[in-house]
Amino acid sequence: MAKLEGVRACVFDAYGTLFDVGSPVSRLAAELGDKAADLSKLWRQKQLEYTWLRSLMGTHADFWHVTGDALDFALEALGINESGLRDELMTLYLKLDAYPDVLDALTALKARSKRTAILSNGSPSMLDSAVRAAGLDKAIDMVLSVEDVGIYKPSRRVYRHAMQKMQIQDAPSICFVSANSWDAQAAAQFGFQVVRLARSGGQDDRLPGKAAARIESLSELAGLV
Ligand code: LAC
Repeated sequence: MAKLEGVRACVFDAYGTLFDVGSPVSRLAAELGDKAADLSKLWRQKQLEYTWLRSLMGTHADFWHVTGDALDFALEALGINESGLRDELMTLYLKLDAYPDVLDALTALKARSKRTAILSNGSPSMLDSAVRAAGLDKAIDMVLSVEDVGIYKPSRRVYRHAMQKMQIQDAPSICFVSANSWDAQAAAQFGFQVVRLARSGGQDDRLPGKAAARIESLSELAGLV
């Protein structure tokens, strides 16, 4: 695969890319039984939909709020009403498992003198909690949240925010890494050099924007930049 030229910083999506959003439901799989997989999928789908819909409606609420709303919808849709389950799942969302390839990949980037950052829909406190719980705080230079912008990805304002905060004037100096196809494609359309992480063979969306490279695991990243 061709190397990406001129990359000064790697900026990562958080949920689904660094952190496994399926881990809260997996941990309570015994209680959830055969509804576990549907709950995990619907919770994530509604969470993303609500970010996009609220952005279009001009009614921003932070990712903690949206994540709770999405969980409430999914629990009701699947007829799950065990008491305490909602709060347990939300608490687990604050300490999601990092994927096993994350820490080594970040460490390898630091060894190559690349700056590292997160650019995520997550609220600052959610991101802070997830980063600490996964022991990534030393490997990530900056944690950037859409809360500073007041609109969700894939608004161009969010990607621009990363450039401003990192004081990088030319978009292609940023290598943006995401396992979410719509996020990867939007970031490429914005002008970043994008590495699409295809954690589970991910299909591309029918949207503008094309990633510069595609990898199956973050262990391939440092060799590209
Ligand atoms: C994020 C969502 C898109 O971390 O997963 O921004």
